[in-house]
Amino acid sequence: MREVVVTGGGTGIGYAIAAAFVAAGDRVTITGRREQVLKEAAARLGATYLPFDAAGPAAVKDAAGRLPERVDVLVNNAGGNTNLDRRQSDDLLDVAEGWLANLNANLLSAVLVTTALLPRLAKGGRIITIGSIAARGTGSGSYGAAKAAVEAWTADLAAQLGPRGITANVVSPGLVLDTEFFRGRLTEEGIRARVENTRNGRPGTPSDVADSVLFLASPGARHLTGQVIHVNGGAYLGR
Ligand SMILES: NC(=O)c1ccc[n+]([C@@H]2O[C@H](COP(=O)([O-])OP(=O)(O)OC[C@H]3O[C@@H](n4cnc5c(N)ncnc54)[C@H](OP(=O)(O)O)[C@@H]3O)[C@@H](O)[C@H]2O)c1
Repeated sequence: MREVVVTGGGTGIGYAIAAAFVAAGDRVTITGRREQVLKEAAARLGATYLPFDAAGPAAVKDAAGRLPERVDVLVNNAGGNTNLDRRQSDDLLDVAEGWLANLNANLLSAVLVTTALLPRLAKGGRIITIGSIAARGTGSGSYGAAKAAVEAWTADLAAQLGPRGITANVVSPGLVLDTEFFRGRLTEEGIRARVENTRNGRPGTPSDVADSVLFLASPGARHLTGQVIHVNGGAYLGR
């Protein structure tokens, strides 16, 4: 039975990824900051949960000892656009805080959890980090830059871990509904504009992303590493 860790697995895309691995017969641990959300999600899923802030070095260090001793699949899904929770201003202190918040939430969280678990990753293990179409587009500032940095870091990780038979890839979604990402602030117009960019005329679902993650964790994806898999209905053509 594979041991799978999904950060941010209590809601949205992470929850769907956890559900897909549970359905495949794997043992799954979900993480996140809100204990009650995790507790309820884990009970529904039949998974284990561990609350900690993935962007906090001390919190990750402390939590690492309570994560499984062997990890076959690590899904770095925790993240989001922290600007949606912040007041924007041109004051340099606000600018610095805003950029650091997105880098911490999306880049550092994946780097810290991965580094903490590196000694426990099984031979043939898989690391899958959730990126974003924002890394390739324009207009999403520090969030897009943080997700672009995730791609650059993953390229390095693939080289570092290749000799251990471990793959590292990014799954990069376009618009995905039914998550907490937009904090309830996405308008019908916002959805329509994003859907118009797709080739298949629809928004993504959490399970569209989960199915790609499951594939990257499967034996069939063994020679696939250092890549960015775009799951966006053709809204961005990653050729
Ligand atoms: N929805 C979209 O359209 C979309 C598109 C492209 C990429 N993505 C990416 O997909 C991933 C999942 O997002 P989602 O759409 O499913 O939104 P979501 O429902 O808000 O999920 C994000 C999850 O990450 C957890 N999280 C955030 N920061 C964390 C931290 N510092 N430590 C631990 N857990 C943390 C959250 O739980 P707590 O708040 O309890 O910590 C939450 O469960 C994110 O990386 C996001 O950037 C989403």
